[in-house]
Amino acid sequence: MVAANPRHRRPVKIVATFEEARRAATGRVGLVPTMGYLHEGHLSLAAAARPEADTVTMSLFVNPLQFGEGEDLDRYPRHLERDAALAEAVGVDILFAPPLEEMYPVSPVTRVTVAGLSERMEGAARPGHFDGVATVVAKLLAGLRPDRAFFGRKDAQQVAVVRRMVGDLSLPVEIVACPIVRSVDGLALSSRNAYLTADERDRALALSRGLAAAADAADAGERTGSVLEGLVMAGLQEGAGVDPEYAELVSVDEVQPLPYLDRPAFLAVAARVGATRLIDNIHLDPAESVVADRGVRLEGRDLFSRDDDTRPGGH
Ligand code: PAJ
Repeated sequence: MVAANPRHRRPVKIVATFEEARRAATGRVGLVPTMGYLHEGHLSLAAAARPEADTVTMSLFVNPLQFGEGEDLDRYPRHLERDAALAEAVGVDILFAPPLEEMYPVSPVTRVTVAGLSERMEGAARPGHFDGVATVVAKLLAGLRPDRAFFGRKDAQQVAVVRRMVGDLSLPVEIVACPIVRSVDGLALSSRNAYLTADERDRALALSRGLAAAADAADAGERTGSVLEGLVMAGLQEGAGVDPEYAELVSVDEVQPLPYLDRPAFLAVAARVGATRLIDNIHLDPAESVVADRGVRLEGRDLFSRDDDTRPGGH
């Protein structure tokens, strides 16, 4: 029998202050920033951090600064006990779950703005969103001082914004981008999927289906931005009850429109399904033999669709 790595059996330590989180950490620190209500996408980031760090710290904070008026700040799912058990199972050592007063003891008047990269797509749809993200990530990096920080490509524009901020401000941390985790049927995992009814969840598959059609076309040699974007839009328009917002091919580092796929890029989509706004994307690199990176699919049912579902209000 192979002995389990004893590190993985250590109980997760839940801390509420930056100071405690720093004191509890030893050696190389890997940070996984989240807003909680964990799913396998978040857990994959912790799993990627585990072999590369002595201490894996996961932060769990629903950051008001990145939510706009009328967005879902108040109803964003929160469930600390559930999250702590899941984090512990993948080997997270420290769960940093600060109250609002720890993160923002006084109302902050400082904002980190990553101009240019923040303006299209999610930045256009959600004014101020990326200022809120960049500001809280800067605070997490300053307060927890990780050697590496792990982010998911599910939020590809966020990865670009964070990388650029880290470069521009010479922050001593390495940003690691990890693949999108999808459920068996292709839907990109998201805490917001918890809002979807069964019927809406079926309709939401239009996003990943449209992207899959574009991925196949890119792998077969298609390089024209408008054609790839058109395939995604056609996928969205096939199903009823999906309200498309955008489908855009942009460069991976600068987040600028690409008429022609001649460098690493991502093809991003946003749509509303009922009251829920969903985003998804595929990563495309024309220099690779397989151009499209569709992410990874779970083999079994995901945490949100299990019978032992622990959603707040579930059962
Ligand atoms: P949250 O939406 O909780 O996501 C936390 C991290 O998990 C992000 O890096 C996100 O890209 C990643 N993630 C989410 N779904 C994923 C999936 N299906 N596959 C792979 N990775 C996935 O993103 C945020 O929180 C916040 O903006 C944050 C960075 C924590 C700042 O508040």
